[in-house]
Amino acid sequence: MKFHYPELLHGGDYNPEQWMEQKDTIWKQDMQYAREAGINTLSIGIFSWAYLEPEDGVYDFSWMDEVMDNLAANGIKAVLATPSGARPAWMARKYPSVLRVTENRLNNVFGGRHNACYSSPDYERKVTEINTRLAERYKDHPALLMWHVSNEYNNDCHCPRCQERFRDWCRARYGTIENLNRAWWNSFWSHKYSCFEEIISPSSLGEEENVAHLLAWRRFSSDNLVRFFQTEIAPLRRITPDVPVTTNLMNTFSGLDYYALGRAMDVSSWDNYPDWRGDERDLKTARISAFHHDLMRGVGDQKPFLMMESSPSSVNWHTINPLRKPGTILYQGLQAIAHGSDSVQYFQFRAGRGGSEQYHGAVIDRTGTNRTRTFREVAEVGATLKQLKGVAGSETRNQIALLYDWHVRWAVEGAWMLHRHHERYVETVRDFHIELGRLGYGVDMVDELSDISGYKVLIAPMAYIMRPGFGEKLKAFVENGGTLITTYVSGYVNDELLTYMDADPSPINEIAGRHVDECDALDDRTFAHFVWNGKKYRVKEVAELSTLTTAQTLAVYADRFYATKPCFTVNGYGMGRCYYIAVRTDEDFLNDALRYILNEANLQPILPKLPEGTWATERYQEDGTRFVFVQNGTHEKKTVMLPKAMKDAVTGKMVYEQLEMGELSVAVLMDE
Ligand code: GLA
Ligand code: ZN
Repeated sequence: MKFHYPELLHGGDYNPEQWMEQKDTIWKQDMQYAREAGINTLSIGIFSWAYLEPEDGVYDFSWMDEVMDNLAANGIKAVLATPSGARPAWMARKYPSVLRVTENRLNNVFGGRHNACYSSPDYERKVTEINTRLAERYKDHPALLMWHVSNEYNNDCHCPRCQERFRDWCRARYGTIENLNRAWWNSFWSHKYSCFEEIISPSSLGEEENVAHLLAWRRFSSDNLVRFFQTEIAPLRRITPDVPVTTNLMNTFSGLDYYALGRAMDVSSWDNYPDWRGDERDLKTARISAFHHDLMRGVGDQKPFLMMESSPSSVNWHTINPLRKPGTILYQGLQAIAHGSDSVQYFQFRAGRGGSEQYHGAVIDRTGTNRTRTFREVAEVGATLKQLKGVAGSETRNQIALLYDWHVRWAVEGAWMLHRHHERYVETVRDFHIELGRLGYGVDMVDELSDISGYKVLIAPMAYIMRPGFGEKLKAFVENGGTLITTYVSGYVNDELLTYMDADPSPINEIAGRHVDECDALDDRTFAHFVWNGKKYRVKEVAELSTLTTAQTLAVYADRFYATKPCFTVNGYGMGRCYYIAVRTDEDFLNDALRYILNEANLQPILPKLPEGTWATERYQEDGTRFVFVQNGTHEKKTVMLPKAMKDAVTGKMVYEQLEMGELSVAVLMDE
């Protein structure tokens, strides 16, 4: 199901149960302030379980009815949550299995919030019951827009039930214990198992080092969570088949394969908390957020996503929580829209008087009024989003895909190799993303299971593990004319982390026309460099030494005992090409190499010659209407040269050739 709403959403988390005794004052004022701030959606019920089910089996929806009715009466849509992100104390007392067990096999006690076991039959039953009741009760309510399932699903549990499910997962994957022993290379250190009953979750008490065992546990924990999500949404799907389902994600959070979860939901949504500092550091922050937005859109199969949370001013959990400079909140909101979001939502609408989040930014902060700078800035975002209504539902049409795969990350970070668990996978992918932005290209994030056939270029940095079918897919992609850019450590191991050998070669070898002989790990005091097109570049951290079969050399190392060995190659394969970057270098090389390769592949940037610190993205409506978003991620003014006159979608004014941009700002342009 595709989520679609004719406007951009503007709103946030709303927790009126914290003001239950002030319904006549606070609740009323909330609605008035929401209208003033141009808010058209509020997310409710996220942590409301103790108020919806005050005793086991005793439900009270009366207050929620009032909230839903208030929203409807004020033209506000409800993003209605299932409450499983936190549970009532009575539940933990009565059904202790709902709580998690740590990797040290200690039973957690009641408290905190995300503290549930996703294999507890009691929890499944209670969640199913309350979700069924919520869906039954509000299925025809005019305010109901979508389901916000749970909150920031995370982490694993080591209880006996999770252990049993892990064994079942292993049985299903490997069939026999011999297959498992072979796959996990259990002939090493006498780790051979004689039956599935012997398998337990890894932990610092026992297995900490067998990479395949650790990866299996991560995969199982992720699958178990996705399965729990399916359990949660079963009653919602049955009772409200037309109401889209989402759950809020946390960008690169490593505990869960977000693509797998994304494939189970209708619209991707996520919580964005950039560490704005109000100075030149914000450019890096803005670029990281851009990467996160694109990744979260990718998880949702490139459809419009939602920025489900963001702070309308400071947060309270960064190491230091400065105020946001005026204009930052507008930039943060429009940046999300620029990268494909259909919403700007905040945590939270009204701050609580107590609790750990009393100082977290809120549309209505601790003053309890609308006379704050934050409120005015939020209202400005609301007004701007109204002007940009036409953007709602539009999608990207990028020709470049960039691979970021959770299994690759788990595998790379788990490997005992070059820099022992510090291989910097996330940063490496992000570095490519940043340079694409610098060069003016838009990009879609994909994983190894995504359909890549429609792209012209695929960049797969550090694609260490070849998940089932990925090698074949890469071959077909390049054979059919695609350009593949890949790097060091790609295709080292199969889906079970067993290294490829000459007798069982990596699919990357054939496509790239070379194979790896050795790989060097450099520390930051080892100087080495290479030269390409007469320009000198630094060799940093990783240097692979390869033998070429059919590939051609573009650049060779200039130092160390491997001077003259190739470090940058290209191989013609079918109708396409594969570029192989065997060395980690600095941004100058990534920028030069991408510029060269994308030019060879005949791809035009969205805007050419963007000044440093600015980048562009595009969104298209089905009828071809195009929106071009130009971002200035710096605290300096920038002048962007446009190839033609365009219309500013917010003001309706024409912009001729020169687009003047203020610090941290987004311009939304349309063709005229
Ligand atoms: C997360 C949670 C919210 C809130 C915010 C605070 O994203 O989902 O409930 O705690 O952080 O930044
Ligand atoms: Zn458990």
